[in-house]
Amino acid sequence: MQGATYSLPPLPYAYNALEPHISAQIMELHHSKHHQTYITNLNAALKSQQEAIQTADIPTQVSLQPGIKFNAGGHINHSLFWQNLCPANSSDAKPSSAPKLVEKIKATWGDETKFREAFKTALLGIQGSGWGWLVKVEGGKEDRLVIMTTKDQDPVVGKGEIPVFGVDMWEHAYYLQYLNGKAAYVENIWNVINWKTAEERYLGSRADAFKVLKASM
Ligand SMILES: [Fe+2]
Repeated sequence: MQGATYSLPPLPYAYNALEPHISAQIMELHHSKHHQTYITNLNAALKSQQEAIQTADIPTQVSLQPGIKFNAGGHINHSLFWQNLCPANSSDAKPSSAPKLVEKIKATWGDETKFREAFKTALLGIQGSGWGWLVKVEGGKEDRLVIMTTKDQDPVVGKGEIPVFGVDMWEHAYYLQYLNGKAAYVENIWNVINWKTAEERYLGSRADAFKVLKASM
């Protein structure tokens, strides 16, 4: 059986579309080089895994798992990230494009400002490389919203977890423009969060959130 091969999903906007908040130089390198590298490495690891499965080579299958997790995570995370950003002058960049989600944010954190503060604290608390996420957790009496951070390229794929939006906290996401000003990057990212996409993910299923991955096979 031939396994899946993944390809780089096109950005839903131009490389300079998020300026001045994220520079065109960062976007081009981040998308065409960093994201592409995760995909290239993932495809190579999946091919090796396929061969190891066919030859019943269990030690090799196990040895490939960390690389598959890292590179698949990189592909998943960046695919979600591009889609949960948009130009600041777009109506999608306004929280009013996510009425149900904002209602739940207010019910969970009190108001939007308190939520943003909590999100910022979580993001700036990441040691080394990682991601910050707003996640819908299904299950129990009603769905919950939680802020999560993940290390390196670990994706949000736990049971019942649906990533609403994520922020890349690797240095490659901001350093060329913000240098060590990580807090300014976190502050400015709010200008380019795509609340329309966030609302769709919040109201949708896990399969809906990850449909971009299926589209890039
Ligand atoms: Fe990244």
